[in-house]
Amino acid sequence: MLESRLISLLRKNKDLGVKISSNLGKWGFTATKISNEASFSTLNQYRLLSSLPKLAPSRRNFVRRTFVNYGLRSFHQLNHKGVHRTSFRKISTVAASAAENKEGLKFLVIAGPHARKMVGIWLFTSAAWVFSMVVLGGITRLTRSGLSMTDWKFTGSLPPLTDEDWLVEFEKYKQSPEYKRVNKGMNIEDFKFIYWMEYAHRMWGRALGIMFALPFSYFLRKGYITVRLGFRLSGLFALGAGQGLIGWWMVKSGLEEPASEYVEPRVSPYRLAAHLTSAFAIYCGLFWTALSVVMPEPPAESLACVRGAAKVKRLALPVGILVGITAISGAFVAGNDAGRAFNTFPKMGDTWIPDDIFSMKPLIRNFFENTSTVQLDHRILATATLAAIGGLWLSARKLDMHPAVRHLIGSTMGMAALQVTLGISTLLSYVPVSLGAAHQAGALTLLTFMILLNHTVRRPSPSLLKTLPSVAKMV
Ligand code: HEM
Repeated sequence: MLESRLISLLRKNKDLGVKISSNLGKWGFTATKISNEASFSTLNQYRLLSSLPKLAPSRRNFVRRTFVNYGLRSFHQLNHKGVHRTSFRKISTVAASAAENKEGLKFLVIAGPHARKMVGIWLFTSAAWVFSMVVLGGITRLTRSGLSMTDWKFTGSLPPLTDEDWLVEFEKYKQSPEYKRVNKGMNIEDFKFIYWMEYAHRMWGRALGIMFALPFSYFLRKGYITVRLGFRLSGLFALGAGQGLIGWWMVKSGLEEPASEYVEPRVSPYRLAAHLTSAFAIYCGLFWTALSVVMPEPPAESLACVRGAAKVKRLALPVGILVGITAISGAFVAGNDAGRAFNTFPKMGDTWIPDDIFSMKPLIRNFFENTSTVQLDHRILATATLAAIGGLWLSARKLDMHPAVRHLIGSTMGMAALQVTLGISTLLSYVPVSLGAAHQAGALTLLTFMILLNHTVRRPSPSLLKTLPSVAKMV
């Protein structure tokens, strides 16, 4: 009875049938010719899984593992096994959709694997776009182009199209403190370069807004997006719109006349840090959400691996937060132009700790506005970050872990070492545009590794846990 029910359900899905029928064969079942085109609906999956308690325990686990565990591994492990690639991915969704009903596994995208793939591609593309925005913003700052446009409209405007338009823009720039104190005598060709840099940065941001909003409304209309995902993405969209406003708020501070005539006009370090932190937050939010869409379950081979991942998780979160704080402290180095002082390493000039680190009043200002203190903090935090990632790597070496987690920890260690090397090279060579931009991109790449690691060591759902053997099989 149960056998015929299983087979009749399997007949309704061609891909799933190919995989399951071979497993059924192992139990002596005879489901060999399955060629129906109809889709394997959520209801059927649910019915099939709800039949499981009636099976003998060994068979029950076999079916469960086929549906849940194989499918979830497909993302990490089985993709290279070309033949079953598609069917495994489908099984993953099938199993997980059923598990959503029965075992509480939460999905961010409904309507099947195709929908998940489309939404995943869109979110990863958006995250990559934000990454490129951050790098472009860094280059804009490093080429001192950020103050070339002296006004701002939320909707944007056309660039100057005629020589007269260019002259008008140039005249406006000539009134700015940056022209008067830093760029006096600049010719129009050089002005056009810095103007185009800032224009490109702004328009790239607006294009991202459109690129995000259009597919979002399309996927909403198609009914792919769950309420939870909808709220999360709306929040990220609002942060993105706010990012444009913070950007202008930052630029405005650089257009104001500085208090003293000896001070170089530049944007407020607090506003620059707010702009960079908000960009990092949007990127992390998008990347985490994209991962959650395509990888609803973490990779897990055995209970021993799950226990290993739980131990890594305890360290991975604080280390991730430390990377974030180091990155924000870097924004203060950039905002105070502190990379152009103390261009030596490991000492700062002739001393380890400069004398004037607490020269400002009140004391707290030193941590955000004093060149020496800001750079010293960044060095200390960067060293602590490297040591913490090194500690994570060492303590994880002897743990039972899924290979994906082990590789990730190794790559994070390598990236941290590269980032510190980039930071030191940037400092020793007086912050050239290329190294400054690479160091900024490196910070975001290191954060990406930390997000991936934290996402990969999440606790699996109860339904997946139930299917796992206590120790991984040695192949
Ligand atoms: C884990 C290690 C590190 C992280 C995550 C990190 C992160 C950052 C970030 C996000 C910025 C801001 C970039 C920008 O807005 O353009 C920055 C700037 C900077 N960092 Fe680091 N950094 C690290 C290590 C170091 C080290 C070891 C040094 C050198 C001792 C260093 C020197 C600098 C300098 C000089 C700047 C200013 C560059 C500029 O003006 O554009 N960093 N860092």
